[in-house]
Amino acid sequence: MESRPTLNRKVGATVASTQSVPSVDAVKAALDGVHDPEINRPITELGMVKDVTVAADGTAKVAVWLTVAGCPMRDTITSRVTAAVSAVPGIRDVRVELDVMSDAQRTALRRQLRGTAEEPRIPFAEPGSLTRVYCIASGKGGVGKSSVTVNLAAAMADRGLSVGVVDADIYGHSVPGMLGTSARPTQVEKMIMPPAAHGVKVISIGMFTKDNTPVVWRGPMLHRALQQFLADVFWGDLDVLLLDLPPGTGDIAISVAQLVPTAEILVVTTPQRAAAEVAQRAGAIALQTRQRLIGVVENMSWLEMPDGSRNYLFGSGGGQVVADSLTRALGSDVPLMGQIPLDPQLRESGDAGTPLVLANPTSPASVVLRGIADRLATRSRGLAGRLLSVSPSAR
Ligand SMILES: Nc1ncnc2c1ncn2[C@@H]1O[C@H](COP(=O)(O)OP(=O)(O)O)[C@@H](O)[C@H]1O
Ligand SMILES: [Mg+2]
Repeated sequence: MESRPTLNRKVGATVASTQSVPSVDAVKAALDGVHDPEINRPITELGMVKDVTVAADGTAKVAVWLTVAGCPMRDTITSRVTAAVSAVPGIRDVRVELDVMSDAQRTALRRQLRGTAEEPRIPFAEPGSLTRVYCIASGKGGVGKSSVTVNLAAAMADRGLSVGVVDADIYGHSVPGMLGTSARPTQVEKMIMPPAAHGVKVISIGMFTKDNTPVVWRGPMLHRALQQFLADVFWGDLDVLLLDLPPGTGDIAISVAQLVPTAEILVVTTPQRAAAEVAQRAGAIALQTRQRLIGVVENMSWLEMPDGSRNYLFGSGGGQVVADSLTRALGSDVPLMGQIPLDPQLRESGDAGTPLVLANPTSPASVVLRGIADRLATRSRGLAGRLLSVSPSAR
């Protein structure tokens, strides 16, 4: 894995050149005082210090393991390390190199943290977990992300799978309504029991806000909420967990990557060029988080006219464009998994709380949705084909 220096600061220029060069141990001792900004424990204790060298001219090189490539804390860590090591007498220059932990290192770190009960246990992130976790992502809202999520969930539950949905879309938590439930989760001891509808267990961010009032969710709050949904909700043995993510490429995608590194991404787009471009950006986040992109779903592809012809209301080709460009960007096949036609009944059934795949299983839109659900349900959860060699400092 490639790493590169990100900061190079001259310090201690006035220190006499006759002063002896400090030892590696002295530098490591200084690093004991550097806390990871998220976990708030010394980076030395977290196994985040990869290597320390001190050259004869007083230059210290410190290589640090980040937990994920998209780590938003890289600048903070770099400046904390630089400040701490600069303070060691005799150090004249500090160079910080960042690298990214492997899955095995992250697992070990999680285990270590859990041992001290600082980090809740997320069953889906366990090495032996058999639950497939899919994030449904889109560049913008209104493309049918939630409709696709609930229909895939209902179709898989209908096949006999045990399915859960996390509605993490802070901007429009619509999943419970589309599944026809307004039930609140109940609490048993420290466990949150999710309501179920049509055989699908569901937890929504909307269930935790008073009277559904909009809340300004900031990154860390959202991270903790998601962590709770994954760790404290009693899901039982799920075959599949779907996460309806907020549109865009924001914090929550990175949170998911940190909390469940094996989660895979499904991108929903409409056929429009403009929508395709934003969808592409949402998909490209996988490059940074090292998550696997399993495919693209084009929604609202056409309207079937009474004479059987197709009216391409929103243009055409967007889904294929996104699939092709993500395939190129990621260097692995990202297929267009289906094109869902416009169907007024899809909206009506969503509004009525019974997903279309159940309300009208043989409609053209249902057939496509069921086809995608079948593909997702029968994929093996193995890590074969996972993206393994992405430079951590890509952007
Ligand atoms: N294929 C479709 N045909 C007709 N209406 C659709 C289709 N897909 C989504 N809709 C409707 O479009 C609106 C937006 O869909 P929604 O799933 O809420 O999007 P998102 O979650 O991306 O914001 C909803 O009213 C939904 O019923
Ligand atoms: Mg939605």
